Amino acid sequence: MNQVGNGGVSGKAADFESEALPAPIVALLQNQRPWWQTVSPAETFVIRLGIIVLRLLATWLQLRLGVWRRKSSMVPSRSFVDSTYTRIARRYAYAHALTTNGRDAWWRREVAWEVAPFLKRRLRERPTSPPVLLDLCTGTGLSLVEVLRILALENVSVKAIGIDINEAMLGETKNTVAAYGRDWLSDYSGTLEFARADASDLLGRRTRRADLQYFEPCSVACITSICGTGGLTEPIESFRQHLEVLDDEGMIVVLDMHCPIPDLASTWPPFHRQTWPAFEQAAWEEVTVPDVLQKLWAWCDPTLFLHAIPFVTIFVDSSGHHYGFRLLSRQIRTEPWWFGLPVMSMARIVAQKTRITPDEARLKKETLRRIQGALREGG
Ligand SMILES: C[S@@+](CC[C@H](N)C(=O)[O-])C[C@H]1O[C@@H](n2cnc3c(N)ncnc32)[C@H](O)[C@@H]1O
Repeated sequence: MNQVGNGGVSGKAADFESEALPAPIVALLQNQRPWWQTVSPAETFVIRLGIIVLRLLATWLQLRLGVWRRKSSMVPSRSFVDSTYTRIARRYAYAHALTTNGRDAWWRREVAWEVAPFLKRRLRERPTSPPVLLDLCTGTGLSLVEVLRILALENVSVKAIGIDINEAMLGETKNTVAAYGRDWLSDYSGTLEFARADASDLLGRRTRRADLQYFEPCSVACITSICGTGGLTEPIESFRQHLEVLDDEGMIVVLDMHCPIPDLASTWPPFHRQTWPAFEQAAWEEVTVPDVLQKLWAWCDPTLFLHAIPFVTIFVDSSGHHYGFRLLSRQIRTEPWWFGLPVMSMARIVAQKTRITPDEARLKKETLRRIQGALREGG
């Protein structure tokens, strides 16, 4: 595949032999051909027409949301990210639902159902203190409210903290809680707070700012991150800090966009059994990444970041132990966008902090090194 923005997959990517990555993903990371080399000239023509329509739609969306830009930012700077979310904060819920065809509500709920049994078990095992649930890049708090709604249903109380770097987005959390709280949170018996913090530097290893909150190692039972990965600066170091902040056997659930995998291409309802991987790939490379992720949401392509998570390790001096993430589940799928078009490809990674042997740590580091190599080539 050609370079697809910062963090994108490069055709020259390093060797990804690893038992932990399924073959289609390895193939994807290693050498995906440009989409037009996989189809006939007639199909290329039709796909090009489709891409023009999608680009027009994306431009219309940007104009409609008042965030139109001539150029995309391949590597969004902190100020670019900040100005984007400051500008869109008041309309964020509407804008996100519009651009995801309302699927974002499903994503939030699916994360909620994932964390609920874990937190319930946690509470049973350690009843004296409610587990801390940390929602990274919480935005206007929509995801956290949805998670707490499910926790209330399951009768689980936690100490929920939503963090975001952007003050305008955080300012909107009170409206979110006011709008949904009465109906959704009336049965929730835990606590909920929002704080300004940097998801890339939870422990404050890079900076120490008075206006940001930092966290202690091993202080969090569960981390959630929904559409928050593409904004992390130095993602590997960020994941290391996530690992460190989690307590033993703590869990992380990350959901974000992911480049489509040809072997997993989806169908379009009018053509029930037929898939068209080249169309999904073209839509991703030519519309989703440059127009939707980079221009509209000031975001990077997080594909490789997501695959890096299970290979991140830390060594804790005080105990002399290595820790890593044990992958619990990995889901990659293309979801229906407007008119049911299969152009919205997503991934969900669920992992648990676990003690690993020095040999396991070495193997994980080796794979991570290769992923980082691909990240550099892609960037
Ligand atoms: C696409 S929104 C996702 C919001 C939310 N998770 C949801 O499900 O609606 C991305 C959010 O990440 C925030 N963000 C970007 N970089 C961040 C960072 N380094 N630390 C914390 N928040 C960050 C932005 O301010 C924005 O609110």
